Amino acid sequence: MMEKTARAAEPATERGLQRCIDPACGATYGLRERIYVCSRCGGTLEIDLGLAALRDSGAMRKLWAARAASRDPRNVSGVWRYRELLPFNEPVPFVTLFEGNTPLYHGPRSAQYCGLDDLRLKHQGCNPTGSFKDTGMTAAVTQAVVLGARTVICASTGNTSASLAAYAGRAGLQAAVLLPKGQITAGKLAQSLDYGALVCEIDGNFDDCMRLIQELGDDPSIYVANSINPFRIEGQKTVAFEMMEQCLWQVPDHVVVPGGNMVNSTALAKGFQELLDLGLISHVPKLSVIQAEGSAPVARLFASLDPREWANGERLPDTMAPVEKPRTLATAIKIGAPVSWKKGLRAVLRSGGKVIAVSEQEIADAKAMIGRDGIGCEPASAATVAGMKKLVAVGHIRRDDSVIGVLTGHMLKDPDYVSHYHRGTLSIDSSAKDGSVTPQRIAGAFRNAPESVAATKAAILESLKRRR
Ligand code: F0G
Repeated sequence: MMEKTARAAEPATERGLQRCIDPACGATYGLRERIYVCSRCGGTLEIDLGLAALRDSGAMRKLWAARAASRDPRNVSGVWRYRELLPFNEPVPFVTLFEGNTPLYHGPRSAQYCGLDDLRLKHQGCNPTGSFKDTGMTAAVTQAVVLGARTVICASTGNTSASLAAYAGRAGLQAAVLLPKGQITAGKLAQSLDYGALVCEIDGNFDDCMRLIQELGDDPSIYVANSINPFRIEGQKTVAFEMMEQCLWQVPDHVVVPGGNMVNSTALAKGFQELLDLGLISHVPKLSVIQAEGSAPVARLFASLDPREWANGERLPDTMAPVEKPRTLATAIKIGAPVSWKKGLRAVLRSGGKVIAVSEQEIADAKAMIGRDGIGCEPASAATVAGMKKLVAVGHIRRDDSVIGVLTGHMLKDPDYVSHYHRGTLSIDSSAKDGSVTPQRIAGAFRNAPESVAATKAAILESLKRRR
């Protein structure tokens, strides 16, 4: 584990390269080039590991299983345990908080709510900083150390920043986080402060913060840890490996994730594809992405595509119209111009999944239903279950399909939302054409408001009886 900033020794050969995802360009770059987009065409980059050299997949399965019982820090991490498939040369100056190792729960009430026989929920909110970001951040901050960077930076709706701040703290690096002022939950903001990051509250929304990051990325003293950084995807793809181990290598029919920047779909698809290339699985699951209605540029684009023309994701639309003023109480996915939309959309199209949007009411009720299963997630994560219900209703998912939903963040990231829902005071501002703003109430179909109960045994028993 890294306690101090360090620079790894130069490796003899690099394990893989960075490649532009646009097939018409295909430019490649070394793993040590500090680059976030293709310098030839401006396209998105991904890492190509050249997996052909790693064909002994049976041995790899056994090795990973054995490591799960080991106490070596590299094996305790649910990311570094799969290091054969990560683009780092030994010795890796790895920065870890022992991320990954998240539970895969059955959610019987959520399943019934969606119209499914069974539903499993992979709770990425059980990571060290309470969100899925940690699996990618361990890789990105490790790469920052490999490159000898002193300062790491990101724009965030709150979870990336919490994660970056924590991992930078572990590595002894300076961290700066750009947050849209007044739009981050108190819990997430508190994390970045406590982990010692410079917190820059920007007058604007997440997309404005992201634009600033793209400018700051030119500064050689700064390493950008947003998801445009392909090393983030490398760490995050291990979620697919861990999920398949937990499923005893039986591929589910569907995997469903919430969508903001479209990184979950990108990373999971890459992970599944690598397992397929290695012969560890027989096919890949259908990947679907669920956005919040008020922040759903990719769902809108997806709905406009003719499936016969775009079915396999070989060709992608050149542009996507952003949502100028994204709106949702699921603040984690309040994003109008997702930076990874092309990679994420390609993943969905290749797998035969869908991108759809759900309403604020649908998210809120799905969240409460997940809670009834004893599983606490933040609002953005609940879009997953809300979307599954819709995908079952339209017949894309069948009742007896095997389905896994990814829950991306912990409930305690946003307890104010939960409290308002159960007390019946949850609302979102809605602006009319004349510019006037009115609060739109979100009714809690599964409300569970606290009761004032007299301090007597009889009163408590009476309250319990009423609820039976
Ligand atoms: N769920 C949660 C809890 C998130 O924090 C985010 C993104 C998403 C879903 C969307 O994920 O990019 O895979 O579509 N949060 C970023 C942040 C933007 O800054 O914390 P995606």
